[in-house]
Amino acid sequence: MGPPELARHLLVVFGATGDLMQRKLLPALHSVAPVGDAPFVVVGVARQPLDEPGFRAQCVASLTSDGSVPTGDAAAWAARHLHYVSVGAGAPEDYQRLSGELERIEREEALPGNRVLYLALPAAAFPPTIEGLGSAGLHRSKGWTRLVVEKPFGRDLASARALNALVHQFFAETQVYRIDHYLGKETVQNLLVFRFANMLFESAWNRDRVDCVEITVAEDLGVEHRAGYYETAGALRDMVQNHLMQLLTLTAMAVPAQYEADQIRNEKVKVLRSLEAIRPEEAVFGQYGPGTVGAAAVPGYREEPGVNPTSTTETYVALRLKINNFRWQGVPFFLRTGKRLPTKTTYIHVHFRSPPVWFFPATSPGEITANSLRIMVQPDEGFELAIEVKKPGHEIALQTQRMHFQYSEVFGPLADAYQTLILDVMRGDQTLFVRADEVEESWRLIAPLLEHPPALRPYPAGAWGPTESTALVTPGGHHWTEG
Ligand SMILES: NC(=O)c1ccc[n+]([C@@H]2O[C@H](COP(=O)([O-])OP(=O)(O)OC[C@H]3O[C@@H](n4cnc5c(N)ncnc54)[C@H](OP(=O)(O)O)[C@@H]3O)[C@@H](O)[C@H]2O)c1
Repeated sequence: MGPPELARHLLVVFGATGDLMQRKLLPALHSVAPVGDAPFVVVGVARQPLDEPGFRAQCVASLTSDGSVPTGDAAAWAARHLHYVSVGAGAPEDYQRLSGELERIEREEALPGNRVLYLALPAAAFPPTIEGLGSAGLHRSKGWTRLVVEKPFGRDLASARALNALVHQFFAETQVYRIDHYLGKETVQNLLVFRFANMLFESAWNRDRVDCVEITVAEDLGVEHRAGYYETAGALRDMVQNHLMQLLTLTAMAVPAQYEADQIRNEKVKVLRSLEAIRPEEAVFGQYGPGTVGAAAVPGYREEPGVNPTSTTETYVALRLKINNFRWQGVPFFLRTGKRLPTKTTYIHVHFRSPPVWFFPATSPGEITANSLRIMVQPDEGFELAIEVKKPGHEIALQTQRMHFQYSEVFGPLADAYQTLILDVMRGDQTLFVRADEVEESWRLIAPLLEHPPALRPYPAGAWGPTESTALVTPGGHHWTEG
């Protein structure tokens, strides 16, 4: 199926020479309209004084780097769809000049004045850029104007509130698209379909049937080249406040009245507001030391390039959360994320209760594995349902069988999250974007841990986090999924 009918517009990417634009946005834009006319004209903006041929050459190199787009096709596409404007030091007159350039391009391309302003910038550049846009009147145009803001949106509750206030000084909330790219993943969106189109699961999705819910976002990589950013962020800001909270709200939310952006986001915010304040004993922070991942010996976090040798930045967080509402009262939600864990995997694992009465002869309740549903977000998107079956033979003996559904087997390769998200911005659909109150609620929730972080526990690279994370789940007889 082709892309939906889209209004013609100007897509202005601030930070267009950066990694996100070159590696993610360009392929996503190219995939919307690989040949012929596109509904958009892209204006790349950055501080460096590049000329248009230089910018196009950089974009062609990025588009062709994996061999999927021939150089001639990419060059023709770039010549037709890409422009470049330098914003220099970002002084008010630079934004006035930018405004003039955008109007000129719109005239030349006969565009109706609709604009997407995409801030693909380091977070420190969000406020001055928003101020620059406002000072030059770029928050308004002849048609619609939409503002896209990348993550991280703030670094605590106060800064997120301040950034929201600045954004709202110029833009209405209906114009704002805060990105959490996890929301663009097919499996994350499928959570809503899975839950609300299948009565089988929805009727069991509550405290009567669910024993606990586990959400794991594991990375096998270390900090790589991101030490500069990561040292000031850590796993709590980098992963928990955004991605894990998004997975949690979509898993726990009630059915919205309609499939509509604000109705869905209202239900997500209700979950965040129902979360009990996190107590210190419900959080474990860890930092990886030297170890082995796969077959390779790897250095510890403090030995990584650019990391302070006495760094106290957490590379692992595990939390035990409680949702105080009718549906989830008493059901623990275990969240964990970490770097240099044994494998790269993201999943939501719903563990159901065991049967209330045991009646099979010659077996004990300990021999049964309670049903569970594991929703794989990445890689191998799909799900796995664990059920008990009788082993063939005269004896009554039970065995756990796992039923699999894998997206790629049925539908082939999935689109990148940025392809979904950029199309939604172009369509004006805010469902998969984080609303102002949502982002503030998730910062509010982790604020106690930012103010008083728990003791940092070491773990060897290649382990499933510090040993203390086990004690977090064992009360109630729970355990983390291994793998
Ligand atoms: N890269 C990813 O895969 C990824 C994934 C998810 C989210 N993000 C988010 O996307 C945003 C951009 O990430 P990135 O990896 O593309 O960053 P990046 O590679 O550092 O690129 C930043 C771009 O912004 C410009 N820039 C840097 N500092 C600036 C400043 N103070 N004022 C104005 N422009 C400035 C740079 O060009 P000039 O120096 O020429 O201005 C460059 O083009 C970040 O918020 C990041 O957290 C990135």
